Amino acid sequence: MRPPLLAPLVLLSCQPVPPSSTDADGPRSAPVEAPPVARASDPDLARAYRAELVRSLALEIGDARVLEAMARVPRHLFVPGVSLARAYEDEPAPIGFDQTISQPTVVAWMSSALELRGGERVLEIGTGSGYQAAVLSVLSADVYTIELVPQLAADADERLRRLGYANVHVRAGDGYAGWPEHAPFDRVIVTAAPERVPAALFEQLADGGVLVAPVGGERREQKLVRYRKRGGHVEAQDLGYVRFVPMVHGDG
Ligand SMILES: C[S@@+](CC[C@H](N)C(=O)[O-])C[C@H]1O[C@@H](n2cnc3c(N)ncnc32)[C@H](O)[C@@H]1O
Repeated sequence: MRPPLLAPLVLLSCQPVPPSSTDADGPRSAPVEAPPVARASDPDLARAYRAELVRSLALEIGDARVLEAMARVPRHLFVPGVSLARAYEDEPAPIGFDQTISQPTVVAWMSSALELRGGERVLEIGTGSGYQAAVLSVLSADVYTIELVPQLAADADERLRRLGYANVHVRAGDGYAGWPEHAPFDRVIVTAAPERVPAALFEQLADGGVLVAPVGGERREQKLVRYRKRGGHVEAQDLGYVRFVPMVHGDG
Protein backbone atom coordinates (compact mmCIF):
# COMPACT_ATOMS: atom_id res chain seq x y z
CA MET A 1 0.00 0.00 0.00
CA ARG A 2 1.29 3.47 -0.82
CA PRO A 3 1.90 6.00 1.94
CA PRO A 4 -0.67 8.77 2.31
CA LEU A 5 -0.48 11.45 -0.38
CA LEU A 6 -0.95 15.16 0.17
CA ALA A 7 -2.16 16.63 -3.14
CA PRO A 8 -5.81 17.73 -3.32
CA LEU A 9 -8.30 15.12 -4.40
CA VAL A 10 -6.05 12.20 -3.65
CA LEU A 11 -6.56 8.89 -2.07
CA LEU A 12 -5.36 9.34 1.51
CA SER A 13 -5.58 5.73 2.54
CA CYS A 14 -7.45 2.69 1.48
CA GLN A 15 -8.12 -0.89 2.21
CA PRO A 16 -7.21 -3.27 -0.56
CA VAL A 17 -10.11 -3.89 -2.90
CA PRO A 18 -10.50 -7.54 -3.77
CA PRO A 19 -10.61 -8.55 -7.42
CA SER A 20 -14.16 -7.94 -8.54
CA SER A 21 -14.82 -10.75 -10.96
CA THR A 22 -14.23 -14.32 -10.04
CA ASP A 23 -16.10 -16.25 -12.65
CA ALA A 24 -16.35 -19.37 -10.52
CA ASP A 25 -19.80 -18.70 -9.09
CA GLY A 26 -21.45 -16.25 -11.44
CA PRO A 27 -21.89 -15.25 -15.06
CA ARG A 28 -18.64 -14.74 -16.93
CA SER A 29 -17.40 -11.19 -17.35
CA ALA A 30 -17.51 -9.69 -20.84
CA PRO A 31 -14.17 -9.07 -22.54
CA VAL A 32 -12.93 -5.49 -22.30
CA GLU A 33 -13.34 -3.74 -25.65
CA ALA A 34 -12.50 -0.11 -26.27
CA PRO A 35 -12.77 2.11 -29.36
CA PRO A 36 -9.52 2.11 -31.37
CA VAL A 37 -7.34 5.19 -30.86
CA ALA A 38 -5.69 6.77 -33.92
CA ARG A 39 -1.92 6.30 -33.73
CA ALA A 40 -1.36 10.00 -34.38
CA SER A 41 -3.25 10.99 -31.25
CA ASP A 42 -1.82 8.14 -29.16
CA PRO A 43 1.93 8.13 -29.87
CA ASP A 44 4.33 5.46 -28.65
CA LEU A 45 5.43 7.68 -25.78
CA ALA A 46 1.84 7.95 -24.50
CA ARG A 47 1.43 4.17 -24.77
CA ALA A 48 4.66 3.64 -22.86
CA TYR A 49 3.66 6.05 -20.08
CA ARG A 50 0.24 4.38 -19.88
CA ALA A 51 1.73 0.89 -19.68
CA GLU A 52 4.02 2.03 -16.87
CA LEU A 53 1.09 3.62 -15.00
CA VAL A 54 -0.96 0.45 -15.27
CA ARG A 55 2.00 -1.62 -14.05
CA SER A 56 2.16 0.54 -10.94
CA LEU A 57 -1.64 0.40 -10.43
CA ALA A 58 -1.43 -3.40 -10.57
CA LEU A 59 0.62 -3.32 -7.35
CA GLU A 60 -2.49 -2.11 -5.50
CA ILE A 61 -5.51 -3.03 -7.63
CA GLY A 62 -5.97 -6.71 -8.36
CA ASP A 63 -8.80 -6.36 -10.85
CA ALA A 64 -7.65 -7.48 -14.30
CA ARG A 65 -10.65 -6.05 -16.20
CA VAL A 66 -10.21 -2.61 -14.65
CA LEU A 67 -6.47 -2.63 -15.35
CA GLU A 68 -7.13 -3.63 -18.95
CA ALA A 69 -9.68 -0.85 -19.36
CA MET A 70 -7.22 1.70 -18.01
CA ALA A 71 -4.55 0.37 -20.34
CA ARG A 72 -6.87 1.11 -23.27
CA VAL A 73 -8.31 4.51 -22.42
CA PRO A 74 -5.92 7.34 -23.44
CA ARG A 75 -6.00 9.55 -20.32
CA HIS A 76 -3.89 12.26 -22.02
CA LEU A 77 -6.74 12.98 -24.46
CA PHE A 78 -9.01 13.86 -21.52
CA VAL A 79 -6.70 16.52 -20.03
CA PRO A 80 -5.95 19.08 -22.76
CA GLY A 81 -3.10 21.39 -21.82
CA VAL A 82 -1.48 18.82 -19.53
CA SER A 83 1.82 17.31 -20.69
CA LEU A 84 1.95 13.64 -21.72
CA ALA A 85 4.20 12.79 -18.80
CA ARG A 86 1.91 14.50 -16.30
CA ALA A 87 -1.22 12.93 -17.79
CA TYR A 88 0.17 9.53 -16.79
CA GLU A 89 1.36 10.41 -13.29
CA ASP A 90 -0.71 8.91 -10.50
CA GLU A 91 -1.99 12.36 -9.58
CA PRO A 92 -5.12 14.42 -10.10
CA ALA A 93 -4.87 16.93 -12.96
CA PRO A 94 -6.72 20.20 -13.70
CA ILE A 95 -9.63 20.18 -16.15
CA GLY A 96 -10.74 23.81 -15.76
CA PHE A 97 -13.55 25.45 -13.75
CA ASP A 98 -11.62 24.68 -10.52
CA GLN A 99 -12.22 20.97 -11.09
CA THR A 100 -9.84 18.04 -11.42
CA ILE A 101 -9.72 14.60 -12.94
CA SER A 102 -9.17 12.08 -10.13
CA GLN A 103 -5.85 10.34 -9.72
CA PRO A 104 -5.67 7.02 -11.59
CA THR A 105 -5.44 4.95 -8.39
CA VAL A 106 -8.79 6.37 -7.29
CA VAL A 107 -10.36 5.76 -10.71
CA ALA A 108 -9.16 2.15 -10.63
CA TRP A 109 -10.23 1.65 -7.02
CA MET A 110 -13.76 3.01 -7.54
CA SER A 111 -14.19 1.17 -10.85
CA SER A 112 -13.18 -2.08 -9.18
CA ALA A 113 -15.50 -1.45 -6.22
CA LEU A 114 -18.44 -1.29 -8.64
CA GLU A 115 -17.95 -4.99 -9.52
CA LEU A 116 -18.84 -4.60 -13.18
CA ARG A 117 -19.15 -7.68 -15.37
CA GLY A 118 -20.10 -6.04 -18.66
CA GLY A 119 -23.88 -5.91 -18.94
CA GLU A 120 -24.68 -3.14 -16.47
CA ARG A 121 -26.31 0.26 -16.87
CA VAL A 122 -24.25 2.74 -14.88
CA LEU A 123 -25.07 6.23 -13.61
CA GLU A 124 -22.13 8.54 -12.89
CA ILE A 125 -22.48 11.83 -11.03
CA GLY A 126 -19.65 14.24 -11.92
CA THR A 127 -18.64 13.75 -15.55
CA GLY A 128 -15.73 16.21 -15.36
CA SER A 129 -13.44 15.36 -18.28
CA GLY A 130 -15.32 12.15 -19.17
CA TYR A 131 -12.32 9.94 -18.34
CA GLN A 132 -13.96 7.90 -15.57
CA ALA A 133 -17.04 7.52 -17.81
CA ALA A 134 -14.83 6.23 -20.63
CA VAL A 135 -13.22 3.65 -18.33
CA LEU A 136 -16.66 2.54 -17.12
CA SER A 137 -17.99 2.40 -20.66
CA VAL A 138 -15.58 -0.36 -21.64
CA LEU A 139 -16.49 -2.32 -18.49
CA SER A 140 -20.29 -2.07 -18.79
CA ALA A 141 -23.13 -1.78 -21.31
CA ASP A 142 -24.16 1.87 -20.95
CA VAL A 143 -23.01 4.84 -18.90
CA TYR A 144 -25.27 7.80 -18.09
CA THR A 145 -23.25 10.67 -16.69
CA ILE A 146 -24.30 14.04 -15.28
CA GLU A 147 -22.15 17.14 -14.90
CA LEU A 148 -23.14 20.34 -13.10
CA VAL A 149 -20.84 22.68 -15.07
CA PRO A 150 -22.45 23.05 -18.53
CA GLN A 151 -19.17 23.72 -20.38
CA LEU A 152 -17.49 20.66 -18.83
CA ALA A 153 -20.51 18.56 -19.84
CA ALA A 154 -20.41 19.91 -23.42
CA ASP A 155 -16.64 19.36 -23.73
CA ALA A 156 -16.84 15.84 -22.30
CA ASP A 157 -19.74 14.96 -24.59
CA GLU A 158 -17.85 16.18 -27.67
CA ARG A 159 -14.65 14.39 -26.56
CA LEU A 160 -16.37 11.08 -25.85
CA ARG A 161 -18.18 11.14 -29.20
CA ARG A 162 -15.03 12.06 -31.11
CA LEU A 163 -13.13 9.20 -29.43
CA GLY A 164 -15.89 6.69 -30.17
CA TYR A 165 -17.36 6.04 -26.70
CA ALA A 166 -20.85 5.71 -28.17
CA ASN A 167 -22.39 4.05 -25.09
CA VAL A 168 -21.76 7.09 -22.85
CA HIS A 169 -24.66 9.52 -22.52
CA VAL A 170 -23.80 12.94 -21.08
CA ARG A 171 -26.21 15.41 -19.55
CA ALA A 172 -25.61 18.84 -18.03
CA GLY A 173 -27.52 19.11 -14.77
CA ASP A 174 -27.61 18.62 -11.03
CA GLY A 175 -26.70 15.09 -10.00
CA TYR A 176 -28.69 15.42 -6.75
CA ALA A 177 -31.78 14.54 -8.81
CA GLY A 178 -30.15 11.61 -10.62
CA TRP A 179 -31.50 10.76 -14.07
CA PRO A 180 -34.98 9.31 -13.41
CA GLU A 181 -35.85 8.93 -17.11
CA HIS A 182 -33.21 6.19 -17.44
CA ALA A 183 -33.57 4.55 -14.01
CA PRO A 184 -33.18 1.97 -12.63
CA PHE A 185 -29.38 1.70 -12.77
CA ASP A 186 -27.41 -1.42 -11.85
CA ARG A 187 -24.55 0.71 -10.61
CA VAL A 188 -24.15 4.31 -9.45
CA ILE A 189 -20.82 6.07 -8.96
CA VAL A 190 -20.48 9.53 -7.44
CA THR A 191 -17.21 11.36 -8.17
CA ALA A 192 -17.79 14.46 -6.02
CA ALA A 193 -18.41 14.22 -2.27
CA PRO A 194 -21.92 14.86 -0.87
CA GLU A 195 -22.56 15.22 2.88
CA ARG A 196 -24.76 12.16 2.46
CA VAL A 197 -25.84 10.22 -0.59
CA PRO A 198 -28.89 11.89 -2.18
CA ALA A 199 -32.07 9.84 -1.66
CA ALA A 200 -32.83 10.04 -5.40
CA LEU A 201 -29.72 8.02 -6.19
CA PHE A 202 -30.76 5.17 -3.86
CA GLU A 203 -34.26 5.30 -5.35
CA GLN A 204 -32.82 5.00 -8.86
CA LEU A 205 -30.54 2.09 -7.90
CA ALA A 206 -31.89 -1.29 -9.02
CA ASP A 207 -32.46 -4.04 -6.46
CA GLY A 208 -29.20 -5.97 -6.19
CA GLY A 209 -27.35 -2.86 -7.34
CA VAL A 210 -24.16 -1.26 -6.03
CA LEU A 211 -23.52 2.45 -5.39
CA VAL A 212 -20.02 3.79 -4.65
CA ALA A 213 -19.55 7.33 -3.33
CA PRO A 214 -17.13 9.48 -1.34
CA VAL A 215 -19.24 10.71 1.58
CA GLY A 216 -18.46 13.62 3.87
CA GLY A 217 -18.78 16.81 1.88
CA GLU A 218 -16.34 19.68 2.14
CA ARG A 219 -15.96 20.09 5.89
CA ARG A 220 -15.94 16.52 7.18
CA GLU A 221 -13.54 13.67 6.78
CA GLN A 222 -14.57 11.77 3.66
CA LYS A 223 -14.89 8.03 3.33
CA LEU A 224 -15.39 6.01 0.22
CA VAL A 225 -18.49 3.91 0.87
CA ARG A 226 -19.95 1.01 -1.10
CA TYR A 227 -23.71 0.52 -0.71
CA ARG A 228 -25.61 -2.59 -1.75
CA LYS A 229 -29.37 -2.50 -2.21
CA ARG A 230 -31.10 -5.75 -1.37
CA GLY A 231 -34.83 -6.22 -1.07
CA GLY A 232 -35.39 -2.55 -0.37
CA HIS A 233 -32.61 -2.39 2.28
CA VAL A 234 -29.28 -0.70 1.79
CA GLU A 235 -26.08 -2.02 3.43
CA ALA A 236 -23.03 0.22 3.67
CA GLN A 237 -19.38 -0.82 3.66
CA ASP A 238 -16.57 1.68 4.34
CA LEU A 239 -13.70 1.20 1.90
CA GLY A 240 -11.26 3.84 3.19
CA TYR A 241 -10.47 7.54 3.41
CA VAL A 242 -10.48 9.81 0.35
CA ARG A 243 -10.41 13.49 -0.54
CA PHE A 244 -12.79 14.69 -3.27
CA VAL A 245 -14.17 18.05 -4.36
CA PRO A 246 -17.61 18.64 -2.80
CA MET A 247 -20.81 17.69 -4.59
CA VAL A 248 -22.34 21.11 -5.09
CA HIS A 249 -26.07 21.83 -5.09
CA GLY A 250 -27.24 23.12 -8.45
CA ASP A 251 -28.98 26.09 -6.87
CA GLY A 252 -25.71 27.39 -5.46
C1 LIG B 1 -13.49 15.01 -9.28
S1 LIG B 1 -14.42 15.75 -10.56
C2 LIG B 1 -14.91 14.34 -11.49
C3 LIG B 1 -13.87 13.79 -12.38
C4 LIG B 1 -14.47 13.00 -13.50
N1 LIG B 1 -15.18 11.83 -13.06
C5 LIG B 1 -13.43 12.68 -14.55
O1 LIG B 1 -13.20 11.52 -14.85
O2 LIG B 1 -12.83 13.65 -15.07
C6 LIG B 1 -15.99 16.11 -9.81
C7 LIG B 1 -17.00 16.68 -10.78
O3 LIG B 1 -18.26 16.68 -10.14
C8 LIG B 1 -18.96 17.80 -10.62
N2 LIG B 1 -20.08 18.08 -9.71
C9 LIG B 1 -20.07 18.67 -8.49
N3 LIG B 1 -21.31 18.72 -7.98
C10 LIG B 1 -22.14 18.15 -8.89
C11 LIG B 1 -23.54 17.91 -8.97
N4 LIG B 1 -24.39 18.30 -8.00
N5 LIG B 1 -24.03 17.28 -10.07
C12 LIG B 1 -23.23 16.90 -11.08
N6 LIG B 1 -21.89 17.12 -11.07
C13 LIG B 1 -21.35 17.73 -10.00
C14 LIG B 1 -17.89 18.87 -10.67
O4 LIG B 1 -18.28 19.96 -11.49
C15 LIG B 1 -16.71 18.10 -11.22
O5 LIG B 1 -16.64 18.17 -12.61
